[in-house]
Amino acid sequence: MIEKGGYIKDILCADVGKAVDAHGWVKTRRDSKGVIFVQMNDGSSFADLQAVIETGAIPEETLRLVTTGACLRISGDLVASPAAGQAVELKAKEIEVYGEADPASYPLQKKGHTMEFLRDIAHLRTRSNTFGSVFRVRNALAQAIHLFFQDRGFLYVHTPIITASDTEGAGAMFGVTTLDLMNLPRIKEGDRKGDIDYSADFFGKPAYLTVSGQLNAEIFALSFTNVYTFGPTFRAENSNTPRHLAEFWMIEPEMAFCDLAGNMKLAEEFLKSVIGHVMNTCQADLEFFNKRIDDTVLATLEHVANSSFEHVTYTEAVSILEKSGRSWEFPVHWGADLQSEHERYLTEETFKKPVIVTDYPESIKAFYMRANDDGKTVRAMDVLAPRIGEIIGGSQREERHDVLLDKIRAQNLDEAGYGWYLELRKFGSAPHAGFGLGFERLMLYLTGMKNIRDVIPFPRTPGSADF
Ligand code: 4AD
Ligand code: MG
Repeated sequence: MIEKGGYIKDILCADVGKAVDAHGWVKTRRDSKGVIFVQMNDGSSFADLQAVIETGAIPEETLRLVTTGACLRISGDLVASPAAGQAVELKAKEIEVYGEADPASYPLQKKGHTMEFLRDIAHLRTRSNTFGSVFRVRNALAQAIHLFFQDRGFLYVHTPIITASDTEGAGAMFGVTTLDLMNLPRIKEGDRKGDIDYSADFFGKPAYLTVSGQLNAEIFALSFTNVYTFGPTFRAENSNTPRHLAEFWMIEPEMAFCDLAGNMKLAEEFLKSVIGHVMNTCQADLEFFNKRIDDTVLATLEHVANSSFEHVTYTEAVSILEKSGRSWEFPVHWGADLQSEHERYLTEETFKKPVIVTDYPESIKAFYMRANDDGKTVRAMDVLAPRIGEIIGGSQREERHDVLLDKIRAQNLDEAGYGWYLELRKFGSAPHAGFGLGFERLMLYLTGMKNIRDVIPFPRTPGSADF
């Protein structure tokens, strides 16, 4: 096992004269007169270690196997490097080949492959510069998220992945069953005669993969005050877009004694903090994205870190869109949900920074959002970011038992199924609020990558669940 101090990122900072064993995969090999240069990477940093092999120092039959993609140990001494951008290089004394990679068939032989091609080789794309940077940033972002909440005393709660409730009331859920699909048990009598008999299923009723941990997080907030979840969520909507996944990760803080203003404040501090952490810890990776993927990434992140988010109500936003003079694919009018084109117009053209839209019409938002006194709108908030559109969705929650019950009834939701959720409003209820951040949406923002399938290790989308 490589221990602390043995990664290539550590070797690159070690002193000249040190004897080291470097392990990793060959990025490139360049032969010149009497000497071979090998760029080696173990994923620990963007920078490669350059090994210098003098002809004659290593047996010819070993050297033949030192090709792009091969996995090696190179042992030798660190010497000062004459090349720019690196302090040391490794003068090879011994090479062990762990795994060969036939140059005739290794798919990552050359640079410049399309993202689509790389997606089809998700078992190898992790060794490319781009995906090395993507997954180092993803790791740093996950750490930043835990640091932010832990630092503020939030309790990390693991909410269930299998659930019987449909949090968003949206109905786009994956079923979980052990019933034999070829031979489904049916209800034999009564008005539901012929329907599937879920009492014979594993959980005794229909069960699904969760679309959000929020309702369970609310239980914890009403005991532990400030909590957060960070886990996988699933949506079976057939959205084949560069911003939707069927399986994605969501961060959901939930705070007791918090209203919409506190929720907005936390969301802004949170985004600034985690972006700042990644900027500090993944400099080389972000510079790569800025150079090779999107040359506005660094400027955008700096800008977000230093500007305050704009706040508008939904009603104001609709009025801005109506006055824009644009022709929209989805027409704008009060009561219609904002589409990606509208969200992007607000952040990219009107305000040129992240925007928090609040107080949406009740009819287009989930049942649990707190009703405003106007009888039309709810205390919802969506955080919109340039290039991405909606990155966070949240709200203050309806904490009044009777108001919530009326709403559940009005929307024909399963009152019995929400029994415990209603009971939370009966015993020690409190004003509370929270939000959900799409982890991969934030990854798109941080990296400048264009497709959400390229910021998650193994994307699940309609028709695709390989690897
Ligand atoms: O706006 P959403 O649906 O909100 C909720 O699920 C609330 N229960 C959150 C809460 O208040 N605790 O989803 C939250 C975020 C969105 O803003 C978006 O960033 C992301 O999750 N998201 C998706 N990301 C990738 N693929 C999808 N199919 C997504 N659907 C939502
Ligand atoms: Mg939303």
